[in-house]
Amino acid sequence: MEIAIIGPGRIGGNIARRLARAGHQTTLSFSRDEAKLRGLADDIGGGVATPEDAVAGAEVVVISVPWGAIPEALAQAGPLAGKIVIDTTNQFGSGPMPAEGQTAAAFNAGRMTGARYTKSFNTLTSAFQERTADRPPDTRVVQWLCGDDEQAKHVVSGLIEQAGYAPVDLGGTEGCAVMEAPRRPGAVYGEEWRLPEALEVVTAVREGQPIPDTPQY
Ligand SMILES: NC(=O)c1ccc[n+]([C@@H]2O[C@H](COP(=O)([O-])OP(=O)(O)OC[C@H]3O[C@@H](n4cnc5c(N)ncnc54)[C@H](OP(=O)(O)O)[C@@H]3O)[C@@H](O)[C@H]2O)c1
Repeated sequence: MEIAIIGPGRIGGNIARRLARAGHQTTLSFSRDEAKLRGLADDIGGGVATPEDAVAGAEVVVISVPWGAIPEALAQAGPLAGKIVIDTTNQFGSGPMPAEGQTAAAFNAGRMTGARYTKSFNTLTSAFQERTADRPPDTRVVQWLCGDDEQAKHVVSGLIEQAGYAPVDLGGTEGCAVMEAPRRPGAVYGEEWRLPEALEVVTAVREGQPIPDTPQY
């Protein structure tokens, strides 16, 4: 697939590298340092383009910038209508914030008009994501995802798997608070989960019950 990475830093850079290795065409974009962008693109066999051009040519758009840089990234990216978006961001720092009780995913989906929005790759540190990709099946790390477009989530689940993780769908954007910052008891954010236990979390979230305790691996 043609994949645009808006913000190929620690999280976006790892995603770009892993998806390029899986055979996807990646286009890197949105950096204050053109040489750095080119260096990574050369290293992984990807391209470089303006956000607008990268998005225009992509089926999937990864948005992986600091929260405060989202408005600028979206302005430069242009229309996202019809594009599958993977949002890795967390609501730290400056910039417009979700309303009380609104998830960051629902808030961001609302400012990406027409996008086939998903959120993933946001719960684990970049170092941990780099270190744990491609583990054998029984110890694979879960990358949670949420979104309101089932087909988009199906595509993104496939990409997560190809990137070396176990995708687990938590449901829609309104109900995904457990995968959002901050790290706290009763949430999966900031914690390692593997498949069997993660599926119990999905059931609990669906039923509106507290999730199981964080597993110790
Ligand atoms: N780091 C983690 O462990 C982690 C874990 C999960 C989720 N996240 C979330 O994922 C998102 C990306 O995090 P990250 O740690 O990958 O960030 P990062 O390493 O700082 O990367 C940010 C990317 O955005 C680009 N960028 C363009 N304009 C920018 C600007 N004005 N200010 C800052 N960056 C700009 C940066 O390019 P240049 O630097 O080349 O300009 C870089 O490619 C954040 O929302 C974060 O909350 C992070």
